Amino acid sequence: MPAVVVVGTQWGDEGKGKVVDYLARNADVVVRYQGGNNAGHTVVVDDKEFKLHLIPSGILYPGKLCVIGNGVVVNPAVLVREMAYLEEQGINTSALRISDAAHVILPYHLEQDKLEEEKKGAQRIGTTRAGVGPAYADKSARFGLRMHEFVEPDVFKEKLYANVASKNRLFTQVYGAGEFDAKAMYDEYSAYARQLRPYLTDTSLTINEAIDAGKNVLFEGAQGTLLDIDHGTYPFVTSSHPIAGGACIGAGVGPTRIDKVIGVVKAYTSRVGDGPFPTELEDEVAAGIRERGHEYGTTTGRPRRVGWLDAVIVRYAARVSGLTGMAVTRLDILGGMDRVKMCVSYKWRGQTLSEFPRDIRVLGECTPVYEEFEGWPADVLDRCRREEDLPAAVRKYLRRLEEVARTKVVLLGLGRERTATVRLEPIF
Ligand code: IMP
Ligand code: MG
Repeated sequence: MPAVVVVGTQWGDEGKGKVVDYLARNADVVVRYQGGNNAGHTVVVDDKEFKLHLIPSGILYPGKLCVIGNGVVVNPAVLVREMAYLEEQGINTSALRISDAAHVILPYHLEQDKLEEEKKGAQRIGTTRAGVGPAYADKSARFGLRMHEFVEPDVFKEKLYANVASKNRLFTQVYGAGEFDAKAMYDEYSAYARQLRPYLTDTSLTINEAIDAGKNVLFEGAQGTLLDIDHGTYPFVTSSHPIAGGACIGAGVGPTRIDKVIGVVKAYTSRVGDGPFPTELEDEVAAGIRERGHEYGTTTGRPRRVGWLDAVIVRYAARVSGLTGMAVTRLDILGGMDRVKMCVSYKWRGQTLSEFPRDIRVLGECTPVYEEFEGWPADVLDRCRREEDLPAAVRKYLRRLEEVARTKVVLLGLGRERTATVRLEPIF
């Protein structure tokens, strides 16, 4: 009957979608607690690929309550479109619940995201331009609009007109850009508000009652540890808390109610967007990983930067989220190479660093200290369904990761399909 949080340990795109989908089978409630439609989760069910940005991937199982928590920023246009997309695929979305305290992303947030990135030029963050950063900025500035206000026509109208007027001053006077028409926005968005209103509730209550009733609750993190606004590679981060503590704030549950925290670790590292990346590769190894692993952004289509597994990062993620276990994904993508490398510490100005540095200027000067491992064949993993089936080389690689990260491996992802998963320890 546990409450389990699943977090990304790297820069996102670790394969959380697949892990969450696997665990959701035994969950009663699946909760998104932060981020917005900057996220992209790809889940493959019976050869069919689903791409989700906002709705928890638990929705692919009938009968699971799926919650968008208060910590999420919701673009109503995207949410309505995603619900329609799922319905077209024969997926029922009636089990969706949206927090009445979640903040709303409006078109001026997308515009602001774009203008700020353009203004930064070479210093840009490389955002997904989904308006996520500006929406969280407005939330912190106590200027945002919450779902319960959005679905009250009078309240929505009043706040929207005031916000548009203020954003228009910013766009025209600071950026020399155009203005938004509050009336047109109100007309379009009121329709979304009417559609979403029936799904709104106090989801903190829903989730706590489920935990009280002994239900299995799964908290699905988006992005990853190094994109956390406090604990990531600031300023090259997102504006929310992807780490495990984010689940408490973003869902309205106390830390004492969380039983397990599973960190998803991709067997190599990737990063979409700018900022330092010590184990980044730009050779044919990278090209091979990118092609085999389809490492292109789910949300933006951008080619992802890729490199060897950086266990220093995973050790850090284990610390800041208090991981109880790791789910290692995409070992199949490393298959077929003679040698595989893992970074176990950094060299920085003659010193050895075994802990991840906070300052990205230090991180940018770090060179990885690698250990080399024998590779494993590409196809054998497809057939592995138990720990005993794993090639010795894979086990050696995992044992070393466990040592550096000081956390045990509890789940393995060996392919895209739901069935290509090996469970080493029960989670639910
Ligand atoms: P934002 O979240 O759109 O503001 O983007 C900030 C940074 O987070 C950029 O480097 C993005 O590429 C990265 N980012 C945001 N969401 C994801 C995700 O779901 N996967 C990987 N990177 C992401
Ligand atoms: Mg993704």
